[in-house]
Amino acid sequence: MTTVRRPGIPALSNGGGSMTSGRKNVLDLDDFSRDEIGGVLENTTAMREVLNRSIRKVPALRGHTVITLFHEPSTRTRVSFEQAGKVLSADVINVTSADNSTKKGESLYNTALTLQALNADIIVMRHPHSGAPHFLARHLDSCIINAGDGAHAHPSQALLDMYTIKEKLGGIEGKRVAIVGDILYSRVGRSNLWGLLKMGAHVTLCAPPTLVPPDFLKPLPEEHPFASVRVTHRVEEALEGAEVVMALRLQLERQTSGHLPSLREYSRMYCITTRRMELAAPDAIVMHPGPMNEGIEIDPEVAHGVRSVIEQQVTNGVAVRMALLFGVVTPDRGTVGRSAAK
Ligand code: CP
Repeated sequence: MTTVRRPGIPALSNGGGSMTSGRKNVLDLDDFSRDEIGGVLENTTAMREVLNRSIRKVPALRGHTVITLFHEPSTRTRVSFEQAGKVLSADVINVTSADNSTKKGESLYNTALTLQALNADIIVMRHPHSGAPHFLARHLDSCIINAGDGAHAHPSQALLDMYTIKEKLGGIEGKRVAIVGDILYSRVGRSNLWGLLKMGAHVTLCAPPTLVPPDFLKPLPEEHPFASVRVTHRVEEALEGAEVVMALRLQLERQTSGHLPSLREYSRMYCITTRRMELAAPDAIVMHPGPMNEGIEIDPEVAHGVRSVIEQQVTNGVAVRMALLFGVVTPDRGTVGRSAAK
């Protein structure tokens, strides 16, 4: 069993995870193995232990620079990556589209080259265009972590969602997960599909036909990685027996044409309400990646009710992001899911 010794972080077993992929970037979960995801979740537990100390600071990334480069608004993701870097003693610099030179016509590539020349070890990046982090990962030596690209991927969100499911329900394998909402434009939904299926969950997607990717509207070939996913347009059917209900935000800023007759109609058909939650398993949890449109995709009574784990998701986001930052910069560069040790 391999362990990596770093100051201040408790030792963990590696859970049998592969230690050898040499991961430099975190772009999506499609190229993560089940073992590697398991390793990240284990290291997240070690990071949580650090966050529970009276002094939340370890020197694991001292001397490293993390730059967050956000070209879209964010509260949870940006703040938690910043907090994660600071707890690990990295120097963290925040750059947003409002205050960088892309405003003066500089290309994203040149902006990123500039950040690299300023010794960015890791660039945590959010961008409205799908594939933008992949482009930078191909051209830069800095590590790239995707913090959300267009409607494509949001891997750290999916990892924190899986961590929260494991924490609350004791595991992910075999769990019945209903993902309800704007599947078409949701990068959170897409990354969760990769992760949850690799970890053995049974996933049902629920949305009006206009908000389901066209590929999912017909049976997928048996060999397709998403072939086991069930799709329904009736929320009652999706929630029946579900152990996890994940509501997704309507991505109104990405919807280009009339996908919905009206928000009121959508809410009437798909809002996660207390009444509808009675169909779910008795101990079902309710998740939402945030930000929420309360009263549209989720009723406030559910969002703030006893089954809601939405705030725990946010808290777990810091530990997951610590595990990712720690994983990519380690000089011997095992996978991001390799063991973290004192
Ligand atoms: N879940 C999520 O990505 O939230 P933010 O947009 O606030 O980062």
